[in-house]
Amino acid sequence: MEKHFKRTLITSALPYANGPVHIGHLAGVYVPADIYARYLRLKGRDCLFIGGSDEHGVPVTIRARKEGITVQKVVDRYHTLIKDSFERFGISFDIYSRTTSATHHKLASDFFRKLYDDGKFIEQVSEQFYDPQTGHFLTDRNIMGECPRCHSAGAYGDQCDKCGADLSPDELINPYNAETGNPLEKKATKHWYLPLDKDQAWLEKWILEEHKEWRSNVYGQCKSWLDGGLRPRAVTRDLDWGIPVPVEGAEGKVLYVWFDAPIGYISNTKELCDARPELGQWETWWKDEETRLVHFIGKDNIVFHCIVFPAMLRAHGGYILPDNVPANEFLNLEGNKISTSKNYAVWLNEYLDELPGRQDELRYVLTANAPETKDNDFTWDDFQARCNNELVAVYGNFVNRALQLTQKYYEGRVPECGELSDYDRETLSEFRDVKERMEQLLEGFKFREAQKEAMNLARIGNKYLADSEPWKVIKTAPERVRTIIYLSLQITANLAIAFEPFLPFSSQRLRQMISLTPSVLKGDGEGSLWEQLGRTDILTPGTALPKPGLLFTKIEDETIAFQKKKLEDTLKANAEAAYKAAPVKPTVSFEDFEKLDIRVGLVKSCEKVRKSKRLLRFTLDDGSGKDRIILSGIAQWYEPEHLIGKNVLFIANFASRQMMGEESQGMILSAVNYDGGLSVTTVLDPVKGGSQVG
Ligand code: 2FM
Ligand code: ZN
Repeated sequence: MEKHFKRTLITSALPYANGPVHIGHLAGVYVPADIYARYLRLKGRDCLFIGGSDEHGVPVTIRARKEGITVQKVVDRYHTLIKDSFERFGISFDIYSRTTSATHHKLASDFFRKLYDDGKFIEQVSEQFYDPQTGHFLTDRNIMGECPRCHSAGAYGDQCDKCGADLSPDELINPYNAETGNPLEKKATKHWYLPLDKDQAWLEKWILEEHKEWRSNVYGQCKSWLDGGLRPRAVTRDLDWGIPVPVEGAEGKVLYVWFDAPIGYISNTKELCDARPELGQWETWWKDEETRLVHFIGKDNIVFHCIVFPAMLRAHGGYILPDNVPANEFLNLEGNKISTSKNYAVWLNEYLDELPGRQDELRYVLTANAPETKDNDFTWDDFQARCNNELVAVYGNFVNRALQLTQKYYEGRVPECGELSDYDRETLSEFRDVKERMEQLLEGFKFREAQKEAMNLARIGNKYLADSEPWKVIKTAPERVRTIIYLSLQITANLAIAFEPFLPFSSQRLRQMISLTPSVLKGDGEGSLWEQLGRTDILTPGTALPKPGLLFTKIEDETIAFQKKKLEDTLKANAEAAYKAAPVKPTVSFEDFEKLDIRVGLVKSCEKVRKSKRLLRFTLDDGSGKDRIILSGIAQWYEPEHLIGKNVLFIANFASRQMMGEESQGMILSAVNYDGGLSVTTVLDPVKGGSQVG
């Protein structure tokens, strides 16, 4: 049965304050949450949109040690940077606070204490890895060692990056402290656990039976967790950064970051409502059954929001549970995983600086390509294509033509509508249920499809103008042109409204261009902006329009090339940093070595092999008086003419091979660089062709 809700509380995952936010965060969480919040406000629904920084946990402490500054400095820096970037990007939080706030510390601490007093935890002593030299217990991610599966060095306590195996620190061979390299030992420590096994039954009913409407990726992940059987989870850690465990004898222990972070949603709501009493009491937003709670998150957060946090809320009592958790999959970048620790990302703050005034372009592309049902890839070429071929060539072009023609023929005033032709009526009919369609999609969290509907209106407009050809008709039937321009302007007004939740900056610019100043911007009452969507009498004849500017401008090739190069440079730097020389091969005797006849050859000529991307054909002077032909797979790294006249090393007694229909008489020696690039070997001083190497 459809439940009736009076208000909606929208939360968006609190990003770790260990780095700036990137496009993966935006596409997965903040852009969809913002579209939803803007839409609800346009509809006049009571809603709050809660954000904030997650300032506890291990990631911020690692960053602090790496940079040699205090953790407080790290979180201050990134909290400010993130908050500022969100603001510039138009993410319309009602509050963006932080988990180091006094309000949050108190609320999270009280929350824990209530569960503790009510006997909701189990206490358990276990043996954990401990670094006797630093006096610290280590979290899984801070422990490294040899992978028990693939035996590569440097696997983490939770995962081997080489072979992808899920690990626990106990499985690592010779575990050590990832930061100091110190060997570890086991030491007993007490922690508090949430016995999730006891929540299994009601969670199964609540999710698997009562929330079948959740996105299939979310539902599926919950099901697999539940099918696997829930186990008790520790909600405290041995760490010196975080919210102290408010229990006697728990010195040196803090709340696990995943215990306190979601409580941050509550603390931030409280902070907001305390500061603005007109919004009502925070308890109404969290405890009244008529509040609808929606969590926007990425897929790595599903278990915490669908299983752990609801279990915490229920254990505490008095709180509502989420009604929906529209989690997104991941966004990759140019085919690679986005990574904060590897500095591989498009950072929001850099985007805003390097492509100023282009917030809506990024918002558009991230929604058009949103990872709603599967992982997606962001590429700069696709970004450019969507901006230039869709925003500029379709939306911008239509609007610009409609406005220019209004200036040209009607001195910039909205003309009267004349008699409608059949084609006009047909065009208008496509607008009739756009509002309903968009609402259905938006309410179902299908933002990609909803934005497509908006863009489709621009396509309809473009086609209408192209088919009606007012610039031709003006000579023969000026009356007809009035109607065409009138309708084109109404379509333009529809675009400003339809794009409002998605592209707030350009929608506002467009509203100014068409003097669309509704009495009510928010709400769905008569005269309000959203309520007018689909209508074709939004702009009143006679209204004066200002001289139009361009709604969107092209993204130049240089901009894209610059961004692509930045990412390639990062990949290169990472590969270089990760480079380790291959292990030395088994020892060979001098006699064995002598079997190889390595010589110097003088390159007489060199050219590309036809139909091969890989091969270069060398003609060498090897001192024998006869040409020696060798084919070598280095075409990707050399222009053949640059090799002519060079001394190269080759194996003279290498068994000859047929390659691309030709006999290769030996092998030219090249070094393999860290990135797989090949570099041909040579001698320091010129020597005669055929000189032996040994
Ligand atoms: O995955 C993350 O980035 C977490 N900082 C998200 C926390 S969401 C919520 F619980 F605060
Ligand atoms: Zn491995």
